[in-house]
Amino acid sequence: MGFFSVFLFLILCSFEKAIIALAATSPEPHLPPHTTHTVEINSLLPATTCTPSTKGHTNNKASILEVVHKHGPCSIFHKSSKTSTTKSDDKYHAQILKQDEARVNSIHSRLNYRIHDPFTQSSASATLPAKSGLLLGSPNYLVTVGLGTPAKQLSLEFDTGSDLTWTQCRPCLRYCYTQSEPIFDPSLSASYKNLSCTSATCTQLSSAGIPHRCSSASSSCLYGIRYGDGSFSIGDFAKEKLTLTSMDVFEGFLFGCGQDNQGLFNGSAGLLGLGRNNISLVEQTAMKYNRFFSYCLPSTSSSTGHLTFGNGGGSANGVKFTKLTTLSERESSFYGLGLTGISVGGCQLPVASSVFSSSGTIIDSGTVITRLPATAYTALRDAFREGMKNYTMTMSFSLLDTCYNVSGYETVSFPDIAFGFGDGVTVDLDAAGILLAVSDSQVCLAFAGNKDDSDIGIIGNVQQKRLEVVYDVAGGKVGFAPASCP
Ligand SMILES: *[C@@H]1O[C@H](CO)[C@@H](O)[C@H](O)[C@H]1NC(C)=O
Ligand SMILES: *[C@@H]1O[C@H](CO)[C@@H](O)[C@H](O)[C@H]1NC(C)=O
Ligand SMILES: *[C@@H]1O[C@H](CO)[C@@H](O)[C@H](O)[C@H]1NC(C)=O
Ligand SMILES: *[C@@H]1O[C@H](CO)[C@@H](O)[C@H](O)[C@H]1NC(C)=O
Ligand SMILES: *[C@@H]1O[C@H](CO)[C@@H](O)[C@H](O)[C@H]1NC(C)=O
Repeated sequence: MGFFSVFLFLILCSFEKAIIALAATSPEPHLPPHTTHTVEINSLLPATTCTPSTKGHTNNKASILEVVHKHGPCSIFHKSSKTSTTKSDDKYHAQILKQDEARVNSIHSRLNYRIHDPFTQSSASATLPAKSGLLLGSPNYLVTVGLGTPAKQLSLEFDTGSDLTWTQCRPCLRYCYTQSEPIFDPSLSASYKNLSCTSATCTQLSSAGIPHRCSSASSSCLYGIRYGDGSFSIGDFAKEKLTLTSMDVFEGFLFGCGQDNQGLFNGSAGLLGLGRNNISLVEQTAMKYNRFFSYCLPSTSSSTGHLTFGNGGGSANGVKFTKLTTLSERESSFYGLGLTGISVGGCQLPVASSVFSSSGTIIDSGTVITRLPATAYTALRDAFREGMKNYTMTMSFSLLDTCYNVSGYETVSFPDIAFGFGDGVTVDLDAAGILLAVSDSQVCLAFAGNKDDSDIGIIGNVQQKRLEVVYDVAGGKVGFAPASCP
């Protein structure tokens, strides 16, 4: 957007404020109605029972998997652990946000080329966050896939920021954490095969930045992956039959069969890697789906969304596409987008597009809260606070510094927020993508600033809620359409 149009926006937005200021004696909201959301506070909070989406799971062109939040009432983890997330469970949110900081730090350090090699660090290392590990760093959204012959159902956390798919495997030579479903046992599967450490496939791990070794006993290929918070998985890099739906079966799918798994993933069986490197599920299924997938993350953890592979989900209507960018040769796993501006309550923030273009932006399904360059976040926060003037601010919550006491209110009205991309595409966020309800009396603006303007911006999963997010990797674009799941 050019200087003059930004300038025009500013005049219009200031003008609007002036008119509202003149009328300040009337109990009007601070923003005109078409630029605000009004929602029931309850709708931002998860219910204690699961309300699955009624969306069908059959489609002759695409494979549709149900997406559930790991800690909501729709997940198997929740049923087995019986730790219900209550409406005022702010400890739960505090833990999620702490874990989110660890993930963002690890993304920033990956981009700063500090790679961890789990083989060179003792796996009994005291640096592991011993008991804080429950939620730390894990992407939180689960899908269930089948692995092996006969197929065993496994709930994996899907992650567009990772490439390698892995699950815990028996006999858990060193360690397996508790998971909800039975741990995968390769000795009971007719289609499991170790890979030789001299095979070209084994060395492909390097291109994904994943260290590998040769097993001294069997000269099979060992992988080791360590996440930013100290969690890790080490085991055999192997081939197995992967069943997404009865129509979508992949022989010889490459995955990690983890014999030493520790840290954050507790509850789920492992991870489904949807990154851009060629060992990811997206690349391994490219022949069938042509690198096309989409998902919708539900507004709360008590409803369900979907993850769809292939371009047949009927989601093509109303999708606005923006160009997919690649960050660098070295760090090609992430999905880069050309974010150039943000508007709040219909007004473009006075932030130069160069602030966004010099940091760069990725979209990540596993980061919770969107991170912006510090300069952009400050402008967003100031504009949002201006629009929230008639609510009482309350203390910060974890990394969220713009929170309101909504005790006694049934509804809350707040400025809408839209992302602007360089190719003229504007994406309006859903109400659930703007405010995080920490409890029934505290809501917070669900954005945070990076410490440094040069750190990459990340569009997190809160901001993606209820949007159909469409990855057309072969077509070099990512698209958004409003409200495709509850
Ligand atoms: C703030 O504005 C909303 C929308 O008009 C109104 O319903 C609410 O009562 C106002 N709150 C206060 C504290 O004035
Ligand atoms: C892992 O989850 C199980 C429930 O599935 C729970 O009983 C256990 O305490 C958790 N372990 C850790 C280390 O958090
Ligand atoms: C795969 O390799 C591991 C050693 O890394 C070995 O323990 C296991 O028995 C092998 N499995 C098969 C099916 O060859
Ligand atoms: C994956 O990438 C590596 C390195 O870029 C390359 O050597 C390898 O051939 C690729 N594999 C496939 C299956 O495309
Ligand atoms: C919110 O306001 C109510 C009274 O209006 C008060 O009792 C409560 O302590 C406040 N909560 C927070 C988190 O500020």
